[in-house]
Amino acid sequence: MLERNKYSFIKVMIRMYTFIKEYKLLITIYMILSVLNIGVNLFLANLINESINSAINLDKNKLYSYTFQMAVIIIVGLVITYFSTLSYGIFKTRVMLDVRKSAIAHLEKLPLSFMEKNHSGDIISRFTNDLSSVQTFIGDDLFKTLIQIISVIFTSIYLIAINLKLFIATFIVIPPALFMINVISKPMEKYFKQASRNLGQANSIVQDSYGGIFIVKAFNLEKLFQDKYLEVIKNGLKYNIKGVHRLKFIPPFNIILRSTPFAICLIYGAYLSINKEISTGQLLSFTYLMGNIVWTFAFLPSTISSLINAIGASERFFEVLDTSTEREDGKRFESLDTKNSISFKNVSFSYNEGTNILKELSFDIKKDSKIALVGASGCGKSTVLKLIASFYNIQSGNIEFFENNSKEWSLNHLRSKISYVSQDTYLFPGSILDNILVGNLHAAKEEVIKAARIANAHEFILELPQGYDTMVGERGIKLSGGQRQRISIARAVLKNAPIILLDEATSALDTLSEAVIQESLEKVMEGKTAIIVAHRLSSIKHVDEILVMDNGCIVERGKHENLVKNNGLYSKLYAKQFNDYDIQESI
Ligand SMILES: Nc1ncnc2c1ncn2[C@@H]1O[C@H](COP(=O)(O)OP(=O)(O)OP(=O)(O)O)[C@@H](O)[C@H]1O
Ligand SMILES: [Mg+2]
Repeated sequence: MLERNKYSFIKVMIRMYTFIKEYKLLITIYMILSVLNIGVNLFLANLINESINSAINLDKNKLYSYTFQMAVIIIVGLVITYFSTLSYGIFKTRVMLDVRKSAIAHLEKLPLSFMEKNHSGDIISRFTNDLSSVQTFIGDDLFKTLIQIISVIFTSIYLIAINLKLFIATFIVIPPALFMINVISKPMEKYFKQASRNLGQANSIVQDSYGGIFIVKAFNLEKLFQDKYLEVIKNGLKYNIKGVHRLKFIPPFNIILRSTPFAICLIYGAYLSINKEISTGQLLSFTYLMGNIVWTFAFLPSTISSLINAIGASERFFEVLDTSTEREDGKRFESLDTKNSISFKNVSFSYNEGTNILKELSFDIKKDSKIALVGASGCGKSTVLKLIASFYNIQSGNIEFFENNSKEWSLNHLRSKISYVSQDTYLFPGSILDNILVGNLHAAKEEVIKAARIANAHEFILELPQGYDTMVGERGIKLSGGQRQRISIARAVLKNAPIILLDEATSALDTLSEAVIQESLEKVMEGKTAIIVAHRLSSIKHVDEILVMDNGCIVERGKHENLVKNNGLYSKLYAKQFNDYDIQESI
């Protein structure tokens, strides 16, 4: 599960600050210009007051002068607005880019253990829906709300200066209305968060059913997935409805917020004007400015709900963004001139801090030797390869990579020394050429073709409609399992790294194709260290040493001939396969 960090409002703000701080200058410019704009507005209100009073006093000269001043101040206001919008626009675009950049960078640095413990659909929802809310919040709501608050404060001071009694009377309804809105909308935070969580779950279900579409169809699971999806959606709907039930109470208070102050201001203001407590000009400038306050409060419910929504989304987004990533330190050891390429020294490992999958495992693999790992399904062979590539942290012992503790290696550098063909082949959506180039992005097409030939893939690729430019769908759905494996081998061959890890790399191939690949791979593996995991024991007879694993331990090791004679686990496995093969042959 995600490392649950409790995010208070303040903590979310502090976290957001990390994105904003780079743009202090732009934000300062925006804030100064916005505050100036508030000043312009107040000045304009004052000019309204003066010009109305001079009109009432039939003082034409003053009226002309104030009208001219008003025209100038409106132009000044327009210029300020232009530049404040510009500075905010630049800030908004850049900060959006930064948020997205940090999201993708973080996503790719997350350790495999994290990916496996959390549903990809949920994580993707956090990096799409929730991230958009965070963006809108930082890029739109946050500073605009701040400016509105400043505007309300300055405007209030100005209005109080005109007449305190009128100010109190006009806005008296605002605090109780706001209080009620707050009471109504408080639980909405919970509902929004839950609804967001449900959306994540729904995404996961869609992804599962889409990803496993063959199984869904083959086992008639359509209804099951639909029901699961509907259940989650209905659950989310329940929270939405709860939210809507609350939301319906808000408009009446909104109307109170919007209309009542105007009515009170006009009636009570007229009364004060008759009593000569304020001038007509003052009343008009009061009415002009009170709009600022009224509209701010009228929009407050929606501002609050979008803030609440954004805080909920930010929590979910930051929860992932603040999980620890793979380490980025380590040295780039250049000299690979060592006796051993890989050594396991008393390595114990478990995926979930439960039972150990590998138990005090120790072995050395001599440089440039070819080693095979064999053993029953689930005994830990793939785990050994994944640990060599440092995909997980071990609990105890040491793994040495070219005689330096792999914890001291830079992960990037260590992985650059490994050509890894994993048990599950993944092809990226794109052309076959692109997929092989993954091994070495700078390789020329001739090198790609050479690698494909070694992987016995060249011929079938040429038979495809666009040859190397044929697009393979998501997960290479248009290719057979064996074809996908061959592309994956070509990719590893192209990488040409000093260590080759082959995890059941030819398991989906027929014996003939396997033999062809093996022959060419032998040449590729010359001068390299190779660790081969294979169930088909006939394919690893010629390696320098076979390590036989059972339940996370090495129980036997040696050359094929010796192991067969040993009468241990290997000879049993071999005899079983040999007999099966004989039976197949005789059929
Ligand atoms: N990512 C993981 N999280 C938790 N447990 C895992 C994970 N991967 C493997 N295991 C468990 O670790 C054990 C060893 O798995 P591993 O994949 O290394 O076996 P294997 O020898 O390669 O098997 P196979 O021959 O079937 O590929 C198994 O019991 C498996 O359930
Ligand atoms: Mg395996």
